[in-house]
Amino acid sequence: MSETVKYEQQGNIALITVNNPPVNALSASVRQGLVDAFSRADQETAIEGVVLACEGRTFIAGADISEFGKPMQSPALPEVLAALNAMQKPTVAALHGTALGGGLETALSCHYRIALTSAAVGLPEVKLGLLPGSGGTQRLPRLIGADKALDLITSGRKAKAEEAAKMGLIDRLVEDKLETNAIAYARELAESQAELRRCQDMQVDTSSLPTGYFTDYKKGLAKKMRGFEAPLACVDTVEYACTLPFEQGLEKERELFLQLMNSTQSAAQRHLFFAERKAAVVDDLPKKTATREINKVAVIGAGTMGAGIAMCFSNAGIPVVMLELKQEALDRGLTSAHSYYADRKAKGRMSPEQADQAAARITGTLSYDDLGEVDLVIEAVFESMDIKHQVFRELDRVCKPGAILSTNTSTLNVDEIAAVTKRPEDVLGLHFFSPAQVMRLLEVVRGEKTSDEVLATAMQLAGRISKVGVVSGVCDGFIGNRMLKGYSREAGALLLEGATPPQIDKVMYDFGMAMGPMTMGDLAGLDVGYRVRQERRQRGDDIPPTEGAVADRLVELGRCGQKTGKGYYRYEEGSRKPIPDPEVEEVIAKTSAELGIQHREISDNEIIERLIYPLINEAALILEEGFAQRPSDIDIVWIYGYGFPVYRGGPMFYADTVGLDKVLDSIKTYQKHYGDAWKPAPLLEKLAAEGKKFADL
Ligand code: 3HC
Ligand code: NAI
Repeated sequence: MSETVKYEQQGNIALITVNNPPVNALSASVRQGLVDAFSRADQETAIEGVVLACEGRTFIAGADISEFGKPMQSPALPEVLAALNAMQKPTVAALHGTALGGGLETALSCHYRIALTSAAVGLPEVKLGLLPGSGGTQRLPRLIGADKALDLITSGRKAKAEEAAKMGLIDRLVEDKLETNAIAYARELAESQAELRRCQDMQVDTSSLPTGYFTDYKKGLAKKMRGFEAPLACVDTVEYACTLPFEQGLEKERELFLQLMNSTQSAAQRHLFFAERKAAVVDDLPKKTATREINKVAVIGAGTMGAGIAMCFSNAGIPVVMLELKQEALDRGLTSAHSYYADRKAKGRMSPEQADQAAARITGTLSYDDLGEVDLVIEAVFESMDIKHQVFRELDRVCKPGAILSTNTSTLNVDEIAAVTKRPEDVLGLHFFSPAQVMRLLEVVRGEKTSDEVLATAMQLAGRISKVGVVSGVCDGFIGNRMLKGYSREAGALLLEGATPPQIDKVMYDFGMAMGPMTMGDLAGLDVGYRVRQERRQRGDDIPPTEGAVADRLVELGRCGQKTGKGYYRYEEGSRKPIPDPEVEEVIAKTSAELGIQHREISDNEIIERLIYPLINEAALILEEGFAQRPSDIDIVWIYGYGFPVYRGGPMFYADTVGLDKVLDSIKTYQKHYGDAWKPAPLLEKLAAEGKKFADL
């Protein structure tokens, strides 16, 4: 018998148990074990019913994603499920944990389903750029109707057992003793000679679906899931379930599944699945590094970031005290946090009780003496080294030994900040992204002296507050903002060469970015970059006259972005919709003329290369300088922090799909035109010369 599938006889019932830790994925040995077990149960005359259950933390959580993209070992899952489906004795799937993807498809191929009330089910394939490829798209609509099936399949969301039972997906719910209850259920079905309920024998009830239902559904999804191929294919398969006989529907499902499996989008999304989990691993941190308990947190500065950061902790059930120097500023921060929870409550996103408790967990103070008991501090005051130094001196004075002191700085040197304390080993950067309560990225900036224990605690904490933590070394802008510089520089340069803000934004939006660089600039405020450039000029930095040239002139005209109603675009009162503005075109034309730059026709492809290739080149430098652990971490930073399109897998994965030799060739061409801002990173040259990818590192 297979090592991962156990067969036991319990009176007249065969109990087939999968044991393939950690999540009972349907690896080749499980598939073979199941086929053998089904055949044995069907043949043994003493057996009158079958229970399929799992050991460990969950029912089967899906196909084995690590086998995807490689030659598939026989038997394939559809064959396994065909064998299960054909069984002549009642079969019961016993669900606990999360029955996902191929796991739920397996359960749907049983005649009946029993579940613990704590269980959940789902078809998350769409999140991997796929569709359920083993009958899920054909069986589920037949069982619960097209509408509910489409919701589950195209969103990939998990439904709790109770909801699934209401839909008719689960036949019986139990609080505990799943195995015993499942065996009793199978026996009951055998004794009553219950019908062998096969989804394939059912018809989808389409009578309540309006005309054009599937076309409209796709239109809605195309907007919501802009650029993604899989959700639309999911709709097609459900439509087939409504219009074709089961076997033909299965064939269509398989065809589309294999198409998606071979697509770059799915490869990108599978890459991100593993990248996200890998990011949590700090390679040089001993596995058993101790972590510190974090039960109470302080945030210094209750501005845009401080208030958002406080919400992140409160949402995770951790009390937070915000400190400000003046009551007025503190009140503003508290009001902003409290109105966020009022809004969640009003929109039904949080129950009134949850929202009130979360709001009550955020308190305020004007005195450092109230911070003696906190386990972690996040400083989010103005971006000035002098002010940060003052704050850290105070923190060093009042915080208890062992408290972790962190800074949310986006540009300042974390080691310099740590140096004013007597405990630099307890200091690190925790760089949140705006809006902090929404964006999932947390750059965990490891200072020169940050201790292993402090780093391990921060990485663990990231998960606790539902963020994806990525370790960065201390360099200018850390991983994300360091890369952003080239992107912004080129966006500004393209304007001077004749591209318009709407053109650049449209190209990048169509590439899949959450928004284009000009819209992003207007949202963040053009005055921020203006001030940074002014400071750099005062410091005597050599800034090329083209850098930020258009933005600077716009700011000088009072056009700071959305907050002033105009920036690269104009905005109507109370609206965030960017409207192209002839005045901006004039400013651009005048600035170009002053700098002696001729306008020309700029292709969409050039816009993509000029903006994305600097990201790739800078990332290669960051990798070889050792400020990021691995290319996939950089992908996670740009996906979760900067709205890079998920279906492109992040800038590193994207570079691999274009081909590093091609990327390098273009970079060299731009270097000839624009100078050493485009100097190729040695790592990129090396990989390209060896015909390798970033993924090979
Ligand atoms: N295949 C291979 N490995 C998997 C896996 C899968 N389906 N699901 C999880 N794992 C691995 C993870 O990579 C991780 O490995 P690591 O410890 O080496 O990093 C380990 O199992 C534990 O996973 P998590 O850290 O995610 O554990 P959680 O307890 O937080 O979550 C889970 C468990 C909810 C099952 C979550 O892992 C999950 O959502 N998994 C993916 C489920 C999925 O997408 N299933 C559909 C697969 S596609 C399919 O079935 C196609 C079919 O239609 C033909
Ligand atoms: P902000 O100006 O909105 O808030 C700063 C707050 O700090 C103000 O409320 C101010 O009253 C308070 N403050 C100033 N000095 C203080 C002191 N000595 N003690 C206590 N409170 C003090 O600024 P924002 O945008 O929240 O930025 C804060 C930090 O976060 C900066 O270091 C910034 O670089 C960083 N950051 C900002 C991001 C953004 O998108 N705004 C993103 C990521 C990091």
